[in-house]
Amino acid sequence: MGPEMKFDRQQDDALTELAVLFGQRYGRKPTLLSRAPGRLEILGNHTDYNEGTVLSVAIDRAARIAAAPNPDAKDGMVCRLYDIKGHSTREFRLDDLDNCRRGDWSNYIKGLIVEFNLQGFKVPAFDALVTGDVPLSAGMSSSAALEMSMTLILDRLSDARLTWLEMAKIGQACENNYIGAHTGLLDQISSLKGKAGQLIYSDFRSFSVANVPMPSGAVFVAANSKIKHNLTNEYNERREACEEAVRILGVKALRDVSPEQLEQRKGDLRDMVYRRACHVVGEIARVADGQAALANGDLTAFGKLMTASHESSRSNFENSCPEIDMMVEIGRTLPGFLGARISGGGFGGISVHLVQTPFAESYCAALGKAYLQRTGIDSSPMILTAADGAALWEA
Ligand code: GLA
Repeated sequence: MGPEMKFDRQQDDALTELAVLFGQRYGRKPTLLSRAPGRLEILGNHTDYNEGTVLSVAIDRAARIAAAPNPDAKDGMVCRLYDIKGHSTREFRLDDLDNCRRGDWSNYIKGLIVEFNLQGFKVPAFDALVTGDVPLSAGMSSSAALEMSMTLILDRLSDARLTWLEMAKIGQACENNYIGAHTGLLDQISSLKGKAGQLIYSDFRSFSVANVPMPSGAVFVAANSKIKHNLTNEYNERREACEEAVRILGVKALRDVSPEQLEQRKGDLRDMVYRRACHVVGEIARVADGQAALANGDLTAFGKLMTASHESSRSNFENSCPEIDMMVEIGRTLPGFLGARISGGGFGGISVHLVQTPFAESYCAALGKAYLQRTGIDSSPMILTAADGAALWEA
C-alpha cells in the first residue's frame, strides 16, 4: 500500500477520455473535471453519528464527472446528465427539483442542488457526463463518491467556494433530506480526505481529520457478498436505538460513555438498546486501540481488532448477515489472514480483510472460490489501495 502507485497518471487518462466523450456528446469542451473516490471503513462502525471516531481509507475506485455550464439551455433552467456506464440519460429543470424518484441515480445530484440553493447558492444550468468504477450498493460508498465529485463541480459552478467540511455536510444533507437515509458524515469525509498509502482518522465531535500511515506488510482485500443493503430502514432503526440509549443515559452522545460506564448502567436499558450501545462504545475503544497498534506497526493486533469489530456487529449491532459472517469465517482459515469484518452500514455489502502482502493474491482466489462454492455467488475479492481524496480540475 505504498505511495508508489501511479494514481495521478491513471486519473489523468480516465479524465482525458471523459473530456473527449463529453465533447462528442455535447459538442463543446467541458470546463470542469472532478474525481472522488469510494471508501472502506476499517474500524469504527456506526460511530460517526454518535460523535465517535473512525479509521477509514479512500480507495483507488472513484466517480468521475466532466461538466460545463449550458447558457443555451431552454430558459436557462434545464440540466442534462449522462451516465456512461449505465447508458442512461436524465434531464431535469432547476425549478422542479422536488420530484425525487425512488431509487434513481440522479437524486444524488438533484438533492445536492437543493442543498446548494437552501444555502443561498444559485446553480446555473449545466451538462454533465458521469462515470465511475466504485461497485454499486456494495458498501464502498459509490453514492458518496458521486456526491463529492458533483459537489466539487457545483461548488465551482455556483461560485460557493465551500470548505471541505461544508462540502461533506452538503452531501450528508442530500442523503438525509432528499434520499431519506439518515447517514453520518463518514463516507463524504473519507472521499474528500484520503491520502495515498494512508488511513484517515476522523473525529466526529471535533471534525478534525488526520492521515495515518499504513505500516508496510499488509493490504486490504474487499469481497462483495452481493447481498444488497438498504440504508434507509434498518440503518435508521439502529440510529434510533442509539438515540434511546443517549436519552436514558443522560449524555450528549455515546462518545461520552466508556465501556465500564455502560456496564454499570446496563440494567437501565432494554437489552436490544444495550447491545446497540455496547457495539458503538466498543468500536470507539477499538479505534483508539487500533491507532496505537498502527503507531507500533503491529498489524497482528490491528487485525484482531477488526475481527473483534465484526463479532460485535454480528452479535450486538446485528448489522451483519450470514453471507458476510461466512466470508469472515472463510478468511480465518486462509494463510495471510490478519483480520476481517463487515465494512460500512451493514446488512450486506462487503467484508474487508487485512491480509499479509505475500498472500494477498492467493487469499483473494481462495476466498472467492470458497464463497462461490457455498453460495453460488461471485464475490470478486479485490486488493484495494489507499488513494488520494477528491480533486477538481479546470479544463
Ligand atoms: C454508512 C453511513 C456512514 C456510517 C456507516 C457506518 O456508510 O453512510 O455515515 O454511519 O454506514 O459506520
